[in-house]
Amino acid sequence: MEDVATYYAMFYKQPTGKFVIQVCRTLSCALKGAERVTEEIAHTLHIKPGQTDKTGMFTLLEVECLGACDRAPVVMVNDGWQECQTPQDAVKLLDVIRSKGEAGLSGCVHRVEK
Ligand code: FES
Repeated sequence: MEDVATYYAMFYKQPTGKFVIQVCRTLSCALKGAERVTEEIAHTLHIKPGQTDKTGMFTLLEVECLGACDRAPVVMVNDGWQECQTPQDAVKLLDVIRSKGEAGLSGCVHRVEK
């Protein structure tokens, strides 16, 4: 059982926040600044990757490829992708989630690069 639980990233071994924020750290996203996105989210929530904030609302995780490499950096909040994220976008997203909850998540957000 332990093998299965540790192999699949979608199984959590500890309680998570209501919103699980997964930031891809694989090559395409790394090259497009995913680390800065993670740092900004961590700074804003006063946590480190792998932790849940004090309110129990957000858990921040760094994960491997989420399958949308052409729209890096990719952040997944629960089941919805947020693509082409900047650190500023990620902070705005946290604010929207805080104010609107689940309603603030519109599913996948596809953004075309200019
Ligand atoms: S490298 Fe980030 S989605 Fe594939």
